[in-house]
Amino acid sequence: MESIFLGKVSPTDIPVRRLGLDDLRDCLLLAIDRQWLPEEAKWRLLFEVGEVYGIDDPAGGLAGTVVLTRYGRDLVAVSMVLVAGRYGRMGLGRRLMLHAMDRAGGATVFLTATEYGRGLYEKIGFETVGTVVTHIGHLALEPEDLKYDGVRPAREGDLEAVIDLDAQASGAPRTRLITRLFTFAERVRVVERGGAITGFGAAWRNVDNVAVGPVVGESTAVARALIAGLTTGLHGQARLDLDTRHAGLTAWAVARGVSPAFSTALMVHGGPLPGDLDRLFAPVMLALG
Ligand SMILES: CC(C)(COP(=O)(O)OP(=O)(O)OC[C@H]1O[C@@H](n2cnc3c(N)ncnc32)[C@H](O)[C@@H]1OP(=O)(O)O)[C@@H](O)C(=O)NCCC(=O)NCCS
Repeated sequence: MESIFLGKVSPTDIPVRRLGLDDLRDCLLLAIDRQWLPEEAKWRLLFEVGEVYGIDDPAGGLAGTVVLTRYGRDLVAVSMVLVAGRYGRMGLGRRLMLHAMDRAGGATVFLTATEYGRGLYEKIGFETVGTVVTHIGHLALEPEDLKYDGVRPAREGDLEAVIDLDAQASGAPRTRLITRLFTFAERVRVVERGGAITGFGAAWRNVDNVAVGPVVGESTAVARALIAGLTTGLHGQARLDLDTRHAGLTAWAVARGVSPAFSTALMVHGGPLPGDLDRLFAPVMLALG
């Protein structure tokens, strides 16, 4: 039976639907409604590599969204779980999450949770497996940071090796994302050692900073060198999403002027997380892992 909300149809009666680029503007308005930045480039990327779902607001625009990004058949990233403030605590967040879980079809699902979402994800069966601290600031590099041998701009011919390396670190094929990253990012750097690509990283421009990620390498020294190569001379503040497991890299970033801004919980359902987290120093972005 149709319920009534302020004399109109309630969004609780409206089914979840797949969104398209036509809905981009409403996604940005929904983000603004929850005091998130209108990250247009990021949403466009998510529309390209992921599946965006939402619930229409009967009054116009969107009442809620969720994004699901598949890496092969066994791993899924969930992000942009957003419900308009005016429809909070009516079950829309739960319904959007359950829709995403259903679409994930039994794959391991991971996300990074804000304090608002964590309770909901725990109820659905997610477990916290880590903490990611977002650091933001002007990275003041020292000459020694730029001395590491082997870091160079990525070339088109590196793509296949980078995709392979990324799959080892993230534990799943992310071919579409990494291919797109080569043009989406402002800079892509690789580490070449003895003719082999052993590390890579990217920096891409978000609304108010340059986000550095992913960063994949065999050691903290390599991660530092990649971040230095990715940010040197770039205009604006740098953003680094660092798992607390990478204490050495975090200490270096803080010493160079990039300070902790906020933290999120890395959560998994149907885990454990695949891959080699010791080599994955930073995600592409929290929304994608
Ligand atoms: C997080 C968010 C999506 C929740 O949406 P919502 O529609 O209000 O959540 P629901 O009404 O579906 O709540 C689902 C369940 O979680 C519980 N819950 C919701 N918010 C909670 C909170 N902050 N702490 C603990 N439990 C919470 C509800 O009690 C409910 O439990 P129940 O199903 O047992 O009754 C919404 O608050 C939001 O958009 N926040 C801002 C953006 C954000 O931080 N998103 C999360 C990104 S990881």
